[in-house]
Amino acid sequence: MKQPKAQRKTKTSPPRIVGLIGCGAIGTVLAEAIARKLIVCDELTVYDVDTAKAQQLKKSLRFPVTIAASFDELLERKPTVIIEAASQQAAKDYAPRIVAEDIALIVLSTGALLGLNVDLSKVYVPSGAIGGLDAIASAALAGIDEAVLTSRKNPRAFGLDNQEVKLVYEGSAEEAVQRFPREMNVAATLALAVKPAKVKVQVLSDPAVQRNTHEIKVKWRFGEMLLRFANDPHPENPHTSALAAWSAIKLLKTLLET
Ligand SMILES: NC(=O)c1ccc[n+]([C@@H]2O[C@H](COP(=O)([O-])OP(=O)(O)OC[C@H]3O[C@@H](n4cnc5c(N)ncnc54)[C@H](O)[C@@H]3O)[C@@H](O)[C@H]2O)c1
Repeated sequence: MKQPKAQRKTKTSPPRIVGLIGCGAIGTVLAEAIARKLIVCDELTVYDVDTAKAQQLKKSLRFPVTIAASFDELLERKPTVIIEAASQQAAKDYAPRIVAEDIALIVLSTGALLGLNVDLSKVYVPSGAIGGLDAIASAALAGIDEAVLTSRKNPRAFGLDNQEVKLVYEGSAEEAVQRFPREMNVAATLALAVKPAKVKVQVLSDPAVQRNTHEIKVKWRFGEMLLRFANDPHPENPHTSALAAWSAIKLLKTLLET
């Protein structure tokens, strides 16, 4: 996983072009942050397989947006950074080509990275719907004995209507992201941070929670950690937490402005 590198713009610097793959819930929050100048960039180019989504996003923004008709067209714009906010399949399909072009890549669909043969040193992973990964990755260098992720969501998120807490999955992060490709990117993000240790994942359908709740317990060589995140689901897309979009905004800001 790559750490952000300072990139200050000078008078002679090339334009800072942001490429966005996926104009859904996360892509929209991110593009709005650019339009509101929370992130300083010169141009936004977007690509979505669903052209209507790209057009809708462009129409909603008071900021110049170029719509790429294809992934190849997006690459031809030579963006400074590309953000994948589409799907695990999109990350698998596009990441190798983006990395080969030496373009900085931010991946939201982190589940795709677990089984992908790509140079991860060129890929930036935002903390997504969780956090504290700096501490966890530090502990991983000394040695992690146990890492457990317990995720609770309202039964609606799983299309269930259980009245009591129900265990819907228990196992590895690798399997969790395959079983719940839209829900369990957090397991992949954590798995990348704790390497070479493995994450034990529990997914619970819990009628008592309205927020997407992720609890992380880590036992490591010199102590223990307990982190808990309770995220409001995104109003447009209940699979997604707003924190995931804001973590990508923060990372993009660091890459472009620091
Ligand atoms: N890292 C995290 O913690 C975290 C948290 C939430 C969501 N996510 C992931 O981020 C991704 C985006 O989430 P979202 O809520 O914005 O999803 P969304 O469904 O609201 O939007 C995804 C958009 O991407 C487009 N798309 C899908 N496949 C594409 C492809 N191959 N090429 C181009 N466009 C494509 C879709 O048409 C859609 O407009 C998802 O994979 C989601 O699982 C990660």
